[in-house]
Amino acid sequence: MVTTHPSHLRSSRPGLAGSASGLPVSIISVTRAYGPVKAVDDVSLNVLPGEFVSLLGPSGSGKTTLLMMLAGFDNPSAGQLVVGDRDLARVPANKRNLGMVFQRYALFPHMTVSGNIAFPLRMRGVSGSERDRLVRRALDMVKLTGYADRMPGQLSGGQQQRVALARAIVFEPPVVLMDEPLGALDKKLRQHLQIEIKELQERLGATVLFVTHDQEEALTMSDRIAVLNNGQLMQCGSPQDLYDRPANAFVADFLGDMNFLPGVSREIGTGTCRIQVGSALLAARLPCERAIALNSRVRIAVRPERIALSRLSGSQSPGPGLTGTIVQRVFHGAAILLMVSTRDPDLTFRVVADAHAAEASLEIGENVSVDWSADDAHVFSEAA
Ligand SMILES: Nc1ncnc2c1ncn2[C@@H]1O[C@H](COP(=O)(O)OP(=O)(O)O)[C@@H](O)[C@H]1O
Ligand SMILES: [Mg+2]
Repeated sequence: MVTTHPSHLRSSRPGLAGSASGLPVSIISVTRAYGPVKAVDDVSLNVLPGEFVSLLGPSGSGKTTLLMMLAGFDNPSAGQLVVGDRDLARVPANKRNLGMVFQRYALFPHMTVSGNIAFPLRMRGVSGSERDRLVRRALDMVKLTGYADRMPGQLSGGQQQRVALARAIVFEPPVVLMDEPLGALDKKLRQHLQIEIKELQERLGATVLFVTHDQEEALTMSDRIAVLNNGQLMQCGSPQDLYDRPANAFVADFLGDMNFLPGVSREIGTGTCRIQVGSALLAARLPCERAIALNSRVRIAVRPERIALSRLSGSQSPGPGLTGTIVQRVFHGAAILLMVSTRDPDLTFRVVADAHAAEASLEIGENVSVDWSADDAHVFSEAA
């Protein structure tokens, strides 16, 4: 652990005396079974000290179960959880020294704001003036100076969630677990608090595991995102990795907007391949991480903003690529959404063009050729 303050100050109450440092978290082949249902299914994940990792997945994918096991409110059926050099199997929940924030504020309603924030310090035996100092500093960090004597009922949802955040960080835990902490808030406030949480985490240096089902939130906040589905880890990587190099169709579909076109693999080269879609042969990137068999049914996945359209004049004979017709045009301010339909095969997909791009002048009914760089087209076998 890297520390910037004298070690004697940390000896009995790690972190309380100065700036905290994050600890690594290792999730090693962890399974949690409820009868035949595996809420978490053989998940392995190493989180680095001070890293912000989001657990992203649809409802029921096992995010909360994973967090509850780390918190000590639930136990793995198999596997191992390690924080720093401690195997959590031998550490009761109240000795894990983790900060926690949940979707519902879960403040003590009969305690003032400062009473709520002081609570974890009382539990740790921090007394008098030191406690007051730490509470004041935590209030300042979440921008609630002056609210110390309010009751939770006198605060807005966003302010209550800030108090919950202050309570989670006041004892400078090396790891903070957050389960959809912004889920109950409206969009504006959520975006505001996303930035605040991120800044706070950077200042504290704590390791954060942040549960969300909101892909935009995960993309904005995370160093890395772990995508879960049916209790299984689908992929873990930086937001950019996941967006540009989805490992499977689930991740491709879950993160960002994606078009899927059904086809058959016809030519497999080095790095690229050709996929037959209707009578067109389309270029796609050949994934090195998964095998695609020749002449097998696949799907091509292309992001709407990576598709280029060019106008076909009436006399022009269409090339060997895909051609289609603009069937819908939606103005989105900085961007224009164009819906393109092809006849061979019968498909409709989404194209997003910059409002200043040439594509933006395309009108409904115009014929276009459809193109993309092979590197932007991902191929997944139908089974995946
Ligand atoms: N106590 C429980 N008993 C039985 N099944 C449970 C229990 N807790 C969670 N599950 C099941 O485990 C799966 C994952 O749940 P959860 O971790 O809450 O998902 P998420 O937080 O991603 O929405 C779900 O199918 C859920 O029904
Ligand atoms: Mg949940």
